[in-house]
Amino acid sequence: MKTLAGKVAVITGAGSGFGRELALLCAQEGMRLSLADVDEKGLQATREMLPAGTAALLQRCDVSQGWQVQQLADRTYAEYGSAQLLFNNAGVAVAGPTWTTTEQDWEWVLGVNLMGVVHGVRNFVPRMLAQGDECHIVNTASVAGLLSVPASSIYCVSKHGVVTMSECLHHELQAAGAKIGVSVLCPAYVNTGIADAARNRPAELADSNPEAAAYEERVRQAVKKGKISAADVARVTIDAVKDNRFYILTHANIKPAVEMRLRDIIDGGQPRNPMP
Ligand SMILES: NC(=O)c1ccc[n+]([C@@H]2O[C@H](COP(=O)([O-])OP(=O)(O)OC[C@H]3O[C@@H](n4cnc5c(N)ncnc54)[C@H](O)[C@@H]3O)[C@@H](O)[C@H]2O)c1
Repeated sequence: MKTLAGKVAVITGAGSGFGRELALLCAQEGMRLSLADVDEKGLQATREMLPAGTAALLQRCDVSQGWQVQQLADRTYAEYGSAQLLFNNAGVAVAGPTWTTTEQDWEWVLGVNLMGVVHGVRNFVPRMLAQGDECHIVNTASVAGLLSVPASSIYCVSKHGVVTMSECLHHELQAAGAKIGVSVLCPAYVNTGIADAARNRPAELADSNPEAAAYEERVRQAVKKGKISAADVARVTIDAVKDNRFYILTHANIKPAVEMRLRDIIDGGQPRNPMP
């Protein structure tokens, strides 16, 4: 999708991090925005950063709840009549050994990271197909969707799910002759609010891995040291949309680890640890 001006971008998780930076870039491109998040203060703060005159509707939306994503789609179409660019970006993270994870850890993270993307696809793609114009969907996964990182099994399962679902969706849209492009965004560590994702954890899913703290602190430190900024990630992502590139790997240094995993699968060896 070469030209973005005048089109409508829907961004989940727009109250912080990548979502906020994507909103700023889409506004600079002259797009109208539909911004969603559970964090309404974050959404307001994003709106205040937008260039004057940007059309932006803000919607409180928990992406793990299909009916709330449906409301987001209903409101977007009621306000703008169409949507061309969808960023299924909202996400959360937990860490800790798999054997001490709780059911609530799984329900929360898979609900937001995986089902949130499913709800986005189910609610927007049929309307985009009916529109018939050029559209694009960007699903935010992670390098954790391409690798198996110790003490991150829940996050990895959710992001591997996003990668394979995006690949399936791409094949289906191609077979249908649809004018809808798909990309999957796979960054490594970037300094955003992701290490403090528990700020948005619902009270009914509060029961968390008793071993999490030390591992989550490690993630916090790794995220802080991220060399690429959220703004850089957003820029690379918008460029990929314009060039219709599917895999968006923002950190080239992870490619050997991806290759190593595939080599271990093909050779039938024991999986080597990508983060020893
Ligand atoms: N920062 C990184 O190192 C990194 C690396 C790879 C992938 N990612 C992914 O990037 C995406 C964006 O994360 P970020 O790094 O910008 O973190 P962030 O915490 O800064 O932003 C995430 C946003 O999602 C929102 N959110 C959380 N739960 C939600 C829900 N149920 N419904 C709607 N919104 C919700 C939060 O309020 C927040 O505004 C996530 O999917 C994350 O998994 C991040």
